[in-house]
Amino acid sequence: MDKISREPFLWGVATSAFQLEGSPYADWTSWDSILDEKPNVTNHYALYREDLHLLKELGVNAYRFSVEWSRIQPRENIWDDEAVAHYQEVIDILIENNIEPMVTLHHFTHPLWFIKKYPWHEDASIEKFLTFSEKIVSRLKGVRYWITFNEPYVLILAGYFEGCTPPGLRNVPLGMKALKNILTCHGKVYDIIHSKVPDSMAKPMVSVAHNMAALAPWNRWNPLDKLLSKIAKHFYNHSLLDAFITGTLSVKFPFKKAVEIPVPIKGKLDFFGVNYYTRIHMRFNPFKKMGVELRHRDIDGYGLTDMGWEVHPRGLERVLRYASKLKVPLIITENGIATRDSQRKINFMKKHIDVVERCKSKGMDIRGYFYWSLIDNYEWLQGLDARFGLYKVDFDTLKRKPTNAAAYYSYLIKSRNFS
Ligand code: FCB
Repeated sequence: MDKISREPFLWGVATSAFQLEGSPYADWTSWDSILDEKPNVTNHYALYREDLHLLKELGVNAYRFSVEWSRIQPRENIWDDEAVAHYQEVIDILIENNIEPMVTLHHFTHPLWFIKKYPWHEDASIEKFLTFSEKIVSRLKGVRYWITFNEPYVLILAGYFEGCTPPGLRNVPLGMKALKNILTCHGKVYDIIHSKVPDSMAKPMVSVAHNMAALAPWNRWNPLDKLLSKIAKHFYNHSLLDAFITGTLSVKFPFKKAVEIPVPIKGKLDFFGVNYYTRIHMRFNPFKKMGVELRHRDIDGYGLTDMGWEVHPRGLERVLRYASKLKVPLIITENGIATRDSQRKINFMKKHIDVVERCKSKGMDIRGYFYWSLIDNYEWLQGLDARFGLYKVDFDTLKRKPTNAAAYYSYLIKSRNFS
C-alpha cells in the first residue's frame, strides 16, 4: 500500500469565499443587484471563528474554501496583507482542529480591475493570475490540497457563451481563448505549488474542481437529441479529462468544425476534483443558441430541487467512472441540494454517499467527499433562497441553526468506514 492510500478518507464540506462573505472589490458585487442589500451575505468574513466551530461540531476532517482574490488585491498595485493574514488564520484554526484545509484559488469571482482590464481572453490575464497565485502559494502555510480553478467550464459557458456572468460576453471563439488561458494558468500554478512545497510537508495535491453532469437525450428516439447529448457529453465531461491526458483540448460543437487547442496541462494533476449535482436532458431546437435546449426532468421520482435540478444519484457513478480514466485519486469536491426540507437533504446525501460506497467497493480510487455547503449562502444569479446549507442562515439576524441534515452527516461520517 502506498503512503497516500493509508490516509483517512476526507469527509468535508465545501464553501467559496464570495458566496459567504461578498467583497466590495469583486466583479460580482455590481453584477447582481441582490448583493446591494446584503453585500456581506452571511458576514462570514467577520464570523469565521463561529463558522469554523461548526466544522468541529459536524466532525468533518476536511474543509474546502476559497480565498477571495479581490480582497487580497483590491487594486492592481495594492495588496492587502491583512486579507492574506485572515485566510492564514482560517488555515491555522483548521490545522489546530485536525481539519485538512483544501484551498481554492479561483472560485468564479475576480477583482473588478482584472475583469475590466485583463479579461481571460487577453493573454495578459495569465501573468496577473500567476502573480496572485504565486503570492498566495508562498504566503499561506500548511496547505497541502489546492484547487486552482473551480469549474472552469461553467465559468466559460456562463461568462462567454451565455454572457450571464462577468465578463458578460457572447462569443464562443473568445470563450475558447479564455479557456486556453485558464488551463495554461492551471499548468503553471501546478508547477509553482510543487516547486514551493517545503521538504517537511507531504507531497502537494493539486487539481481543478470540474463540474460534471449526467447528460441524456430529451427523447431517446430522436437521433438529433441523441447526437447533441453525445457531443455535450464529450465537451462538458470528457474534453477536460482528455486534455489532462494528452495536452490537447479537442472540442467539437454542433454543426461546427472540430478544434484542437494545445494546453500545457498534460499530467498536471495529483487528484481530480469532481463537482456533481444533477442530470440534464438535451433537445435539438433550432430557435435556441447553438440549437440546444436543456431541461431537468424528475425521472427517478425524487422531485426537482429548489434550483429546479433533477436528483439523480446514479449519475455520480457514471461521472466518477469517466474521471477514473485519469488514473489519479478522485475526490468529490462538491455535491449537495438546495431545499428547505431537511428530510430531502438527508435522503439526497444518503443516496449519493451510497453511490460513493458502491464505487469504492468496485475498486474506484475515491479519497474524499465534500458536501456543498456548510451554511446557506449566496447562490450565483439566484440570491439567498437556494438553501444548500447543513446550517440554516436567517439572513435578517445572521443566526446559524443546524438542520437535521447536519446531525445526519455527522452520523454518516462516523458510521461509514471508508478508510
Ligand atoms: C457549483 C458551484 C458552487 C455552488 C454550487 C451550488 O456549480 O461551484 O459555487 O454555487 O454549484
